Amino acid sequence: MSSPDTASAAPRDPATLATSAPERTDAYWMPFTANRQFKAEPRLLASAEGMYYRSVDGREILDGTAGLWCCNAGHARPQIVAAIQRQAATLDFAPSFQMGHPLPFVLAERLAALAPAPLQHVFYTNSGSESVDTALKIALAYHRVRGEGQRTRLIGREKGYHGVGFGGISVGGLANNRKFFGALLPGVDHLPHTLDLRRNAFSRGLPKHGAELADELERLVALHDASTIAAVIVEPIAGSAGVILPPEGYLQRLREICTKHGILLIFDEVITGFGRVGDCFAAQRFGVVPDMITTAKGLSNGAAPMGAVFVSQAIHEAFMNGPEGAIELFHGYTYSGHPLACAAALATLDVYAEENLFAAAHELGDYWEERIHALQGLPNVIDIRNYGLVGAVELAARPDAPGSRGYEVFKRAFHEQNLMVRCTGDTIALSPPLILNREHIDRIFDRLGATIRATA
Ligand SMILES: Cc1ncc(COP(=O)(O)O)c(C=O)c1O
Repeated sequence: MSSPDTASAAPRDPATLATSAPERTDAYWMPFTANRQFKAEPRLLASAEGMYYRSVDGREILDGTAGLWCCNAGHARPQIVAAIQRQAATLDFAPSFQMGHPLPFVLAERLAALAPAPLQHVFYTNSGSESVDTALKIALAYHRVRGEGQRTRLIGREKGYHGVGFGGISVGGLANNRKFFGALLPGVDHLPHTLDLRRNAFSRGLPKHGAELADELERLVALHDASTIAAVIVEPIAGSAGVILPPEGYLQRLREICTKHGILLIFDEVITGFGRVGDCFAAQRFGVVPDMITTAKGLSNGAAPMGAVFVSQAIHEAFMNGPEGAIELFHGYTYSGHPLACAAALATLDVYAEENLFAAAHELGDYWEERIHALQGLPNVIDIRNYGLVGAVELAARPDAPGSRGYEVFKRAFHEQNLMVRCTGDTIALSPPLILNREHIDRIFDRLGATIRATA
């Protein structure tokens, strides 16, 4: 006898359900979304391949954002799909505490080989937020196991985005992500951000002015004393606040000051990791080696949730001193090193290597720069920023409605130009899959230019 549920004529197969608009949208509380506005006019994606999404209404949407800075190898890559399918049928899940399975070990060796030399150890998470909170906890615990447990302060930066955990929003510097959530972590301070339109507007690549902003760390050291500071965390290139680039020499200066005072330096490379700026990591491209790197997104090409924290040999060794039977770090996630995520990541690394995708941002970076800067002079464009295959077009805010112009460009690009961009406030951010070619670049900027003109 069939239950009322199974007797229903409505399709039940998720693959079928995934390609048409849902009958009801009420129950799902969407993240970082104006829920009521969205549900009145949804933007729903049904499938994706290579450089394109297909919307549920059958339109081909050019992906200018690699999903959400995730799909660096493009969408639905057959190798990655097959790896996930095979793994799901072989070992769906294995506990990760005091147990294991082979893949996270194999993957960690591959990842360590890609990282800057001292960062030879990998701790798995499931997201960028978890990677950040993990790195902050490792920093605090590292000082404690070395007998410097008074180093409890964490330093972030204004306009920084480090995900949504309590650690991440505490060191982050975006007011909307912080102000609703109480007192946050104690003992956190912030460096000034490096966005300076007055001196650096329309810079090509790294801005010339602002390296001295790193010296603000000396001021914080003078205020708090180095002996109380555990770590500094920054994004080498800040993404979520609208693509903010490090001024020439800035990251080097931060490294020097951290080293001088025994403060750990953490680079949050959740968006810059895995080829976005022409090397596997921005640390390599900028020639600055941090003590930890947080990653997610491009690690598994977005095909399965996964994050990882890369940790230096010195930090790791500091934990490996107690009795052998003692758990060295009381931290981890049920899904750390999940079999499907590991399979996705291993296949992703193969695609990156076989197609030499990390070099793409080098090879196409000049053309990308030329085309994005050709938007200078369009209505309301007040700055254009680029590095590797990252771009941002900042629009003047409407005096009465900050953010509304950026949102309108984002929406019109999707509905009228079949182009996916991101808006953060009035900044349009771009981060395409690294598989794109010159024609895709032309299409992205032709469509974005038309949208900016239409929105004037
Ligand atoms: C620099 C940075 N850190 C952390 C995060 C958080 O990642 P997730 O959304 O996977 O938690 C993001 C997300 O965009 C990010 O850009």
